[in-house]
Amino acid sequence: MSKKENQRVFLRSRPGVDKEPKVENFGCEVCPFPEEPGNGEALFETLYLSVDPLMRCLMNEDSGVVYASAWGMGDTIKGSAVATVIKSKSPNLEVGDLVTPKGFSWPFQLYTVQDESSVLKLENLNRKNASLALGLFGINGLTSAIGVMERGNIVPNSNQTMVVSAAAGSCGSIAGQVGKILGCGKLIGICGSPEKCEFIVEYFGFDEAICYKTEDVHSEIKRICPGGVDVYFDNVGGDINNAVINCMNKNSSVILCGQIAVYNDNVPYPPPLPADIVELIAQREISRERFLVLNYPEKFMHALSFLMDSYKNCQIKNHETVTTGLENTGQAFIEMMNGKNIGKQIVKL
Ligand SMILES: NC(=O)c1ccc[n+]([C@@H]2O[C@H](COP(=O)([O-])OP(=O)(O)OC[C@H]3O[C@@H](n4cnc5c(N)ncnc54)[C@H](OP(=O)(O)O)[C@@H]3O)[C@@H](O)[C@H]2O)c1
Repeated sequence: MSKKENQRVFLRSRPGVDKEPKVENFGCEVCPFPEEPGNGEALFETLYLSVDPLMRCLMNEDSGVVYASAWGMGDTIKGSAVATVIKSKSPNLEVGDLVTPKGFSWPFQLYTVQDESSVLKLENLNRKNASLALGLFGINGLTSAIGVMERGNIVPNSNQTMVVSAAAGSCGSIAGQVGKILGCGKLIGICGSPEKCEFIVEYFGFDEAICYKTEDVHSEIKRICPGGVDVYFDNVGGDINNAVINCMNKNSSVILCGQIAVYNDNVPYPPPLPADIVELIAQREISRERFLVLNYPEKFMHALSFLMDSYKNCQIKNHETVTTGLENTGQAFIEMMNGKNIGKQIVKL
């Protein structure tokens, strides 16, 4: 690629609302270098991209969510990213500044011109740790912290038991650690391989782990949590959800973060639960309302400083799975959807 060329990732084809996405759904090609920035704009070089489960919805003709639009066929795909300023016509942005987009709006290309109003400056990060803005200090960290704080109903030192699904992933690993900091007595993670189970115990400090692919989740929870489950941070839904809810106590709390097990199914969000689970939720007065972090903007600053302090004090550990190269973005997304990641899956350009 010559100096004045650019490269982008685009949507080559849609997987269909009820099929698994494939690497071939994504294309990567050379594209024109952006025009000179106008007043209030800057030219950016993208450093890191975030691949997120939400992108699966954006691959459909209708995203099904109000806060992000579906990608058009052939369009450059958009999401979250970290970039640096390489030319500025904005008084508020200098060459070398690090930024992240305010929404899920960054075009997945090497170079782009954006208006100053569409980015947030990453004042506390540097080139070495800037990818934290996509995980622990980004939307996933906020989701986990605000979800647990607002919906977990954790009572410190009351020996509550918390269960987290997709516990080795970005939201799950952070949510579990937040639960521990806020005072949960016992922390159990559910994830997709024995290696992940070992990792979440050794590295993230979970007390126990269950591999849903090789163990029976319901009987394992019964065995590990004889006193029942008080808090469930649910990233997954489906059978795992039903197994956990079966073991939940009266007045316990589900943080309904995501339902990735059904993202390749043509069902509404959140998907309907089996009748016996609905009945059980009502009988035991379990709280379980849809949780969307974007509904809590007033909590962002508090949650971010909590995460930053906890990280600085070594109470929270971060982990990333890094794929290199813009052309491997589709691969990184598919691998994350299939559980190859531990912690936040990012793409380094
Ligand atoms: N509510 C909000 O505001 C909000 C904001 C951000 C994200 N989310 C949601 O949070 C969840 C986690 O997102 P993330 O970005 O942190 O991703 P992640 O957990 O880092 O990666 C996704 C993980 O999901 C697991 N998974 C995939 N298919 C599964 C299945 N059929 N059954 C069980 N587990 C499966 C895989 O781990 P295993 O190896 O363990 O299977 C994979 O590693 C998603 O549901 C996402 O939509 C919600």
